[in-house]
Amino acid sequence: MAAPRTSGRQTPIAPPDLWDPVVRISHWGLAFIIVMNALLTEGGSQWHLWLGWIGMALLLLRLVWGVLGPVEARFSAFPPSPRAALSHMRGLVSGRVPHYPSHNPAGTLMVYAFWATLAVVIGTGLVMTGGQTPMQAAREDAAVASGDWSVLVTDDEDGGESRFGKVPQEVHEVAANLLLILAALHIAGVAVESRAMRRNLVAPMLTGSKRRRG
Ligand code: HEM
Ligand code: HEM
Repeated sequence: MAAPRTSGRQTPIAPPDLWDPVVRISHWGLAFIIVMNALLTEGGSQWHLWLGWIGMALLLLRLVWGVLGPVEARFSAFPPSPRAALSHMRGLVSGRVPHYPSHNPAGTLMVYAFWATLAVVIGTGLVMTGGQTPMQAAREDAAVASGDWSVLVTDDEDGGESRFGKVPQEVHEVAANLLLILAALHIAGVAVESRAMRRNLVAPMLTGSKRRRG
């Protein structure tokens, strides 16, 4: 096995055997919410807004954790670098098995792509709904149902037409679909990398791996 990378430090650092609870909760929470909102809830419905807002809170929590969290969860432990990603993949093909202190450089690009795309989805969602909380949207729905249209924040009843026209709606939908494509690539990437790096990457994101790496 190749010598572990030192990542600029004196002692080699391996990625965690178990990601901390904030990383795990935000990971599985966001994965659940993205799948639910992209495939199962009705766009703009109460459920959709609730899940969207919880997703926004989880994303913000994870971003704060990227500054304040443990070393391996910090942005500084996984800087985005397409060159490092390429050299990582070339290394794997030639049988080198490097260690990284956090996500590997290829996974890192995917992580930032997820967060950026999710921010676009949430941002356009907020524009469409005029920044209404799910509670405000529920009150608005109730008022409209009783015939009081004066409470409407957006131009039509499903929030689809904001003062920016249909653009936010279209961007929201395209970015939501992109999230699903990224998720499929990510799951395939995790499987391929686990095999190539000869370590179970999924276990640390669940309950931890029993076998310690050398
Ligand atoms: C919509 C679904 C998913 C999304 C949006 C997603 C997103 C992410 C993100 C943002 C990270 C970085 C975590 C962090 O640092 O906070 C990550 C890491 C990870 N995800 Fe997912 N994920 C999804 C589904 C899955 C599934 C189904 C699996 C398991 C098969 C999985 C396995 C992993 C693993 C193992 C890592 C850590 C990789 C490493 O060790 O570097 N993910 N994912
Ligand atoms: C968390 C990730 C999210 C995903 C994956 C997602 C996905 C989607 C999808 C696929 C649609 C249907 C698009 C169409 O067929 O027209 C939709 C519609 C909608 N979403 Fe989201 N969404 C998310 C978050 C949010 C958030 C945070 C908000 C608001 C704060 C929001 C508000 C809306 C609204 C108002 C619609 C209805 C648009 C219309 O009138 O057609 N979404 N969303």
